[in-house]
Formats: sequence, C-alpha cells, structure tokens
Amino acid sequence: MTNTYDLHNLTIETLLNRRSIRAFADEEIPADVVATLETVAQHAASSQYLNDWSAIRITDSKVAARLAEIGGQPYIAEAPLLYVFVLDEHRNASIAAAKGVDVDSDAFTLNGSYRYSQAQNDAVLALHAMETAAYSLGLGCVILGSLLNDVDALIDLLKLPKLTYPVLGLAIGRPAQEPALKPRMPRNIQFFENAYPQSSEDMLTTIADFDGVVHQYYDLRNTDRPVDAFSDQIAGNAVADMTGRTVGKPAARQGFRLDR
Ligand SMILES: Cc1cc2nc3c(=O)[nH]c(=O)nc-3n(C[C@H](O)[C@H](O)[C@H](O)COP(=O)(O)O)c2cc1C
Repeated sequence: MTNTYDLHNLTIETLLNRRSIRAFADEEIPADVVATLETVAQHAASSQYLNDWSAIRITDSKVAARLAEIGGQPYIAEAPLLYVFVLDEHRNASIAAAKGVDVDSDAFTLNGSYRYSQAQNDAVLALHAMETAAYSLGLGCVILGSLLNDVDALIDLLKLPKLTYPVLGLAIGRPAQEPALKPRMPRNIQFFENAYPQSSEDMLTTIADFDGVVHQYYDLRNTDRPVDAFSDQIAGNAVADMTGRTVGKPAARQGFRLDR
C-alpha cells in the first residue's frame, strides 16, 4: 500500500506563506502565547542534547530602543515581543565546573570552534521553531542580524557573560503590513543531486532569468521602486563593510578559542 500525503496541510501552508514582517500592530502578545512560543523553541533539536542556547526576552523599552539604534532599524523597538538568541556554553561550563571539570584546562572543549558553531546551529533552530509557531498563530516576525552591527555594544547591553555570544534577534507581533512573498530562486540551482555541480554556467544562466523576477518585487521598506536584480544585490553584499560584525575578536573576548 502506498501512503498518500496531504501536501497542503497547515504546517506546509504556514511555511510556504512565511515572509518577513517589519510593521506591527500595537497589540500586546498574551502571556499564554509567549509561553507557548518559548516552549516550542525549547523543543527544537539540540546537538548532543547540550541545549547550548538561551534567549533574552526584551521587555524594557529603553533596551529595545538601544537595540533599534544598534540595528539601525526603528521597527525593532516597535515589536510587541522581542528576543535576542544567544549561543550559550556559559550554563554548561557552570554545570561541568560544579561536577569538578577544570574549565581552565586544555581538556575543556566547550569553548572551542566546534561547540561554537553547533551552539549557533542550536540557537538558530530554536529561533526558527519559534518563528514558525508565531506565523502559525497569525503573528509575523522578522529575524534581526542587524543587532550584530556592533557586537561589543550588544554584549555590554545584554550583560552577556563569558562563553555566550549573540546570534540573532527575533521581533514578533501582529502584522500591520501585507508584503508580497519574496521570490525564491529555481530549486534546481539550490538543490543538487549527490555532488555539487562542477560548473557555474547553468546556474548563471538561470540567475539571469531570476534577476528579472526579483526586480518585479516591491519591498515595503522602499515602495517607490522595484528592488535591485538578485545578482546586483549579491554583488553589493559581497563587498559590504562587515567590520562591526566580525566574529574573531568579540568571540575571543567572550572566552571562545575559535582556533581550536
Ligand atoms: C540570518 C538573518 C538575518 C536577518 N537580518 C535582518 C535584519 O537585520 N533586518 C531585517 O529587516 N531583516 C532581516 N532578515 C530578513 C531577510 O532580509 C529576509 O528573510 C529576506 O530578505 C527574505 O525575505 P522574506 O523573509 O520576506 O522571504 C534576516 C534574515 C536572516 C535569515
């Protein structure tokens, strides 16, 4: 017997209709919704069950205003619910130390590059679970990498201890805008079979067509003109100044040894 699948179930519809929301109704999110979103995030998978992420709920409007300033995006301060997800080996280091592990020895690896990247993965998976749950409830979200414009300032503002590092923000609220779905590139240049294609020729031909599709999209942040062609956006980002967002120095300040 062959199984049949309902390809139009609510989960898939929610994911296919996801789009970033950057304007929110001035409407509080009820406590039971907040609790559900946070519990959903906790149920995401976690590398080796380390649960090596935390999230900081921002309820102080002064802190939110400062975050909006760091991110250079006013809507950050306007979100009824706002989180900063951090990768967190601080908690695990404390637990290990309480069990007698010498966290200053070379045998200690929670501060190494592998844990750093897996903890970041864990944080992102948790954030994404929360984001999806929020959309399923009719809320909207925007993920905030802009908070990393000034990592040092963010670490100070949130009083992040050693062995933590900010990953992303998530702003949540009832949508006060209806942006169009942003187009995605044809699947065959993002999903490959068995190995990575050895030539970029087909991809570049496809992208030339996709450029036109993206150019038709009007971003609500900039309603007066269509957005740049996809390849122009990529070329611009390829040389964007990332000075404040560089990981090496602030990660070392936080006690990580990314060379290990
Ligand atoms: C890691 C990450 C960081 C992002 N940072 C920001 C941000 O700082 N500000 C913002 O307005 N959107 C941010 N976004 C949203 C993206 O711009 C958005 O997802 C992308 O343009 C695709 O549009 P869509 O989400 O509407 O499909 C971020 C998305 C991701 C995944």
